[in-house]
Amino acid sequence: MCGIIAYTGRQQAAPILIEALKTLEYRGYDSAGIAVAAEKGMNTAKVAGRVEALASSVKKRDVRGTTGIGHTRWATHGGVTDRNAHPHVSTDGSMAIVHNGIVENYLELKAGLVARGYRFASDTDSEVIVHMMDGFMKDGDNLETALRKTARMIRGAAAIVALATDDPGKVVGLRLGNAGGLVCGFGDGQNLLASDLLALLPHTNRVAYLESGEVAIATRTGLSFIDLEGRAVNKQEIVVERTREAAARGKFPHFMAKEIAEQPQAATACLRQRIDFERGRIELPELKLTAGEVRKLRQVVLIGMGTSLHAAMAGAHAIEAIARIPARAENASEFRYREPVIGPETLVVAVTQSGETADTLAAMDEARRRSARQFAVTEVDGSQATRIADATLLLRAGQEIGVASTKTMTCSMVVLTLLALYLGRLRGELAPDRERAAVEQLAALPRLLSAMTELEDGYRTLAERIKSTDHLLYLGRGPLFPLALEGALKMKEIAYIHAEGYPAGEMKHGFIALISDRVPTIVLAPRNGLYEKMLSNVNEVKARGGEVIAILTEGDEGIAKIVDHALYVPDAPELIQPMLSLVPMQLLAYHVAVGLNRDPDKPRNLAKTVTVE
Ligand code: AGP
Repeated sequence: MCGIIAYTGRQQAAPILIEALKTLEYRGYDSAGIAVAAEKGMNTAKVAGRVEALASSVKKRDVRGTTGIGHTRWATHGGVTDRNAHPHVSTDGSMAIVHNGIVENYLELKAGLVARGYRFASDTDSEVIVHMMDGFMKDGDNLETALRKTARMIRGAAAIVALATDDPGKVVGLRLGNAGGLVCGFGDGQNLLASDLLALLPHTNRVAYLESGEVAIATRTGLSFIDLEGRAVNKQEIVVERTREAAARGKFPHFMAKEIAEQPQAATACLRQRIDFERGRIELPELKLTAGEVRKLRQVVLIGMGTSLHAAMAGAHAIEAIARIPARAENASEFRYREPVIGPETLVVAVTQSGETADTLAAMDEARRRSARQFAVTEVDGSQATRIADATLLLRAGQEIGVASTKTMTCSMVVLTLLALYLGRLRGELAPDRERAAVEQLAALPRLLSAMTELEDGYRTLAERIKSTDHLLYLGRGPLFPLALEGALKMKEIAYIHAEGYPAGEMKHGFIALISDRVPTIVLAPRNGLYEKMLSNVNEVKARGGEVIAILTEGDEGIAKIVDHALYVPDAPELIQPMLSLVPMQLLAYHVAVGLNRDPDKPRNLAKTVTVE
């Protein structure tokens, strides 16, 4: 994630931008920068490093002006350097932009711009935005028109904010998909835009949230809104509670809802600096792993608990399928006591969003005692798991407040898929064309997740239907079996309804005795190599009078015809189907819990981190 702030009003912009960036720094802190429109030209300061370093740099200079933008960066394409820091500035210095998201088609856009003579100062995808907007303004468009026209040419979820000396006293902001929201703050003689509410509260509690496809135009005297066609949009100004928790929740009724909605931007942050579009490769330099070391590996053992175990199971599937190394996932509390046969030729991967789960840490200690190589996959840098492991892959999901893990599971699966591809290349099992295809498929994930997290109505209706049941069965096959387990866990932990996840093929070996119209069966059956098998399972359930809720690929015309309810995921390659199939599992459980007046953020008997055995 990145942090974005913009200000226009009577006060000097620089101090306001710096203070806001300190509030936003949790969203990313590889680099930071501001751009302020001065009397003549643009004053820009940007550094690799924390906001403090930026503040020191700004103090040494007289960055004056009352309209400005700022950004904290979680490195995207291109390393952590001053020149890759945002804001990005047009060649003649008349315009500056900041961006949160991935420009999926930036290679072709960049080639076009270079062919037209534009010179690039950075290695980032974001820089194409400022040159495209500059071109439109040089053709006579105003700032918001230049932004609208550019938005229609880029692919991928995004939040963009811009200002220009040729259209003074104005900042514009745009939201596309869910890569990162933009909140607009209504002030007296001043107006602001920010990635989240916390940065606005020192100045105003009158706000409006931008929806996808909307553009905000802020001047000292007002805030107006248009759509991508330039038509006026009427936005409801809301007054928010000033409490930090309410502010942190923003427009969402629960943190879990917010964190489900944040998954596109969490996935974006997780992928950044790890997928190299230009070379079509996966890069995980933090592992410091050589091809020789990978070739010596005889097995990969993934360990975790709860949701993290389910992510580990999906990861084991990907590692074995792609890297062709024997891989398995184990419940950490079992692993630690069973005298596992592992050693220096074993790679142990501990999946733990908190990095503090007692059973997982104990299993890691056991692996260390047996001299296995260890990686931690976690959200929390500096957690105990990172101190035991030889190397760490951070999730970059952003703080997860809800006890039920949502966005951290998505990021765990993304990280483990990246690991599978990386190991595959180092072992010579992944041809360059397959790796390039995988890079493109992963780059599309934030946009596809965005489409998912905006489809809530169907879930509310379905939740009304199933909230009165006492038992639910979840069925999945292959890489989607762990998602069946996760769907069942979510329903148990926040709605308190008994639910079981089963490998679909296992149903006939027992659970089928329980099938009835009082036990709805939820089937994960997107279009993939196991679809026909899932069709058979659906027929077996229907033949016994069971009610079936199916998770299907948009446009399905097979299983959709014989089930009682269908929820849809975008048509997507099998590599990213587990991440997309997770969203229906989360939303269904969330809406059932809310329908039953449960608190999804603080479910009974549970804790966010189980630091005891
Ligand atoms: C899942 O929603 C729960 N929060 C719980 O199962 C959790 O996944 C488990 O306790 C593991 O936590 P960790 O990822 O922090 O190790």
